[in-house]
Amino acid sequence: MVITIDGPSGAGKSTVARLLAQRLGYTYLDTGAMYRAVGLAALRVGIDPGSQEAVSSILDGLRLELRPGQQGAAVFLNGEDVTNQIRTPEVSLAASKVSAHPQVRAYLTELQRQMGQKGGIVAEGRDTGTVVFPEAEAKFFITASDEERARRRWLELKQRGEEISYEEVLRQQRLRDKNDSCRRLAPLKPAPEAVIIDTTGLKIEEVLEQILRLIEEKI
Ligand code: C5P
Repeated sequence: MVITIDGPSGAGKSTVARLLAQRLGYTYLDTGAMYRAVGLAALRVGIDPGSQEAVSSILDGLRLELRPGQQGAAVFLNGEDVTNQIRTPEVSLAASKVSAHPQVRAYLTELQRQMGQKGGIVAEGRDTGTVVFPEAEAKFFITASDEERARRRWLELKQRGEEISYEEVLRQQRLRDKNDSCRRLAPLKPAPEAVIIDTTGLKIEEVLEQILRLIEEKI
């Protein structure tokens, strides 16, 4: 079975997807990590992540490897483990910018489909139910209020020692949401058949149980 979980940043979808993969013995595919790795690559070579031409020109030279597992995924860029480096606010914004380029989307969509070929996968991102795996057997769209999502992201960043204010996290999140929802290609939106879950005020376990119940009905 292919299960897709899409939604805006900070809605809790990564945690839910990871736990769900663990419970089912499936592979967790973090598609956002792949856009982040391309964003990081652009920043490292000093090109503008918003420039379609410049970003397209580095794709051929990229060796992007995702070692998916039930515990999360380790991301390798040209042989280097960049799992932690891709989680900074700068890379978040760069990822959102590179993700608007058609060449980047085509390149990563192809990689994601190869990874999902055999099924037994929980894919998480923005377009996994709409574009990457339109035939997925179970699709979910997880969301939460702006403020709650920013608060969760801020706490996560603070725990990792990042110096950033809540207001700045909220500002950057709104910018990213706007980029992701308004882009022409694969914009963030629920697949028509996706089950929409608003996680505002819900605990992760409650969301997970709700999803597991729905999946059991399909098995
Ligand atoms: O999910 P995460 O916050 O790690 O994703 C980083 C960025 O990658 C998103 O803001 C979005 O622009 C992009 N992305 C995407 N399509 C996906 C997953 C992520 O465009 N399937």
